[in-house]
Amino acid sequence: MPTHTEREHPWVGMIWAQARDRVIGDGGDMPWHLPEDFAHFRAMTRGCPVVMGRRTWESLPEAARPLPGRRNIVVTGDSSRAAEIEGAGAEAVDSLATGLQVAAAPSSASDASSAASAVRDSSGAPERIWILGGGAIYAEAVERGLADAAVVTVIDLDVDGDTRAPRLSEEDWRLESSDPADGGWHVAENGLRHRFERHARRR
Ligand SMILES: NC(=O)c1ccc[n+]([C@@H]2O[C@H](COP(=O)([O-])OP(=O)(O)OC[C@H]3O[C@@H](n4cnc5c(N)ncnc54)[C@H](OP(=O)(O)O)[C@@H]3O)[C@@H](O)[C@H]2O)c1
Repeated sequence: MPTHTEREHPWVGMIWAQARDRVIGDGGDMPWHLPEDFAHFRAMTRGCPVVMGRRTWESLPEAARPLPGRRNIVVTGDSSRAAEIEGAGAEAVDSLATGLQVAAAPSSASDASSAASAVRDSSGAPERIWILGGGAIYAEAVERGLADAAVVTVIDLDVDGDTRAPRLSEEDWRLESSDPADGGWHVAENGLRHRFERHARRR
């Protein structure tokens, strides 16, 4: 994984879990329970700034937000919601591009998010930024080429949903790795079959 010192901007990854037909959400929540995916999500994003849309922020349980050990940046076009978000301990921005700029800026060790120091370079800038969704934010990130990679938990589940992940076209994206390899599956304690894929943007 390139580091901040090797490139002009920090590496930006999107992370999501999807059921069949790229379903990622329904009624403001995720229509499955997969603790193994939460553990994977925590391990991948720990210590890094995270950027998410207002609806995804609201989908987090109140007790879990802001997500601990990470600088939480929330995109909203609504100034009264922005004040609520700030009051709850996250940073509100009015666009995804601004969110990524804010996330890339060095932050001082005295910040509430100082737990993020583990993945900052010597100037205090983060080496990695994660886009946490949801559908609207992933779509914009793909459309505008704002992310270097997509880390996708593929869940072998047929479920109704009102929110979908963007399609990663073969022209722009390539499957870099799959765990397990060769289209196999992990089986969760509750029986859900899933695998962890990493896709890299070609250009
Ligand atoms: N499966 C997964 O891994 C995963 C991950 C994340 C989310 N989800 C699911 O996805 C769903 C939420 O996704 P969503 O598409 O409905 O919403 P979202 O992308 O989380 O948030 C959309 C909101 O972000 C703000 N926003 C987005 N683009 C903006 C822009 N260009 N300028 C200003 N503000 C902008 C707006 O907030 P305002 O309306 O406040 O202006 C907009 O309503 C939920 O069901 C959630 O559970 C699933």
